Amino acid sequence: VSSLKGKDLLTLLDYTSEEVHDLITLATQLKKITKAGKCPKLLEGKTLGMIFEKHSTRTRISFEVGMNQLGGKAMFMHSRDLQIGRGEPISDTGHVLSGYLDGVMIRANSHEMVKELADHASIPIINGLTDLYHPCQALADLETIAENKGSFKGLKIAYVGDGNNVAHSLVVAAVHVGMDIVVATPVGYEPNDEIIEKAKNIAKENGSLVTVTNDAVAAVKNADVVYADVWTSMGQEEETAKRLVDFKDYQINDKLVAHAKPDYMFLHCLPAHREEEVTASVIDGPHSYIYEQAENRLHAQKAVLASILA
Ligand code: CP
Ligand code: NVA
Repeated sequence: VSSLKGKDLLTLLDYTSEEVHDLITLATQLKKITKAGKCPKLLEGKTLGMIFEKHSTRTRISFEVGMNQLGGKAMFMHSRDLQIGRGEPISDTGHVLSGYLDGVMIRANSHEMVKELADHASIPIINGLTDLYHPCQALADLETIAENKGSFKGLKIAYVGDGNNVAHSLVVAAVHVGMDIVVATPVGYEPNDEIIEKAKNIAKENGSLVTVTNDAVAAVKNADVVYADVWTSMGQEEETAKRLVDFKDYQINDKLVAHAKPDYMFLHCLPAHREEEVTASVIDGPHSYIYEQAENRLHAQKAVLASILA
């Protein structure tokens, strides 16, 4: 996707709908040619730095393998081992890393911090999850839907749970491809108003709808895709007991998915807690695409890396 060369990926709000579509098409192409053993070495000689302030299985491994498959290298760094862990300014870190690396993927607590890094770095910065967004996840989610539903036309996606980073990026991704999306949360856990307003503007242009509700049944009614994330995100562990109570009516179970279309897809960004946000009957049942979705992180990110860094 040539218009993305040298660009950051902090949120899909900064991308056009055409760029999002093109990334998904490229991801599916790269998946096919990678499986045929012919992934092009578009990033030979390039190094991606990967900074983590939080745990990760999928993001870390898929970025590292993705760089390898494209002929480049990835370096894992935990923030506590870097001088930022001892208070070195983000601005200095951004300037210094730009002298060594071709790009940085960062998973951070604060989106503001990632923005500051991007402001001071002359190389592309890719968001690998912040408190506000998880754009790489949303691209893999779109890829999984496109590959299994054929197109996005007329589809409705229902996200049930916390109005968090994953929900925000899913809403933005959905409106870029013209899907209707309904987010159902308990009272007090609604998504960020500002992000929803921006997504509604994109939705208007693409003829789709964004709805925020506290009614899980209404959300799932006639949905083509039902989506879950954890009730307690990384860094919120001290709220776990309260969240278990507040979210108890928002579990995705057989009774709830009975309202979805008969051929609905179940998606979850993972990691998952069976019998909390989703029952084993649903996440391990015939409608679940979670492992394909996790694999698609690899291909969707290769599309991003190849577009931004090549
Ligand atoms: N879905 C996701 O980002 O997983 P990890 O936390 O394992 O990277
Ligand atoms: N909302 C979750 C997503 C994990 C991939 C978190 O932030 O922990």
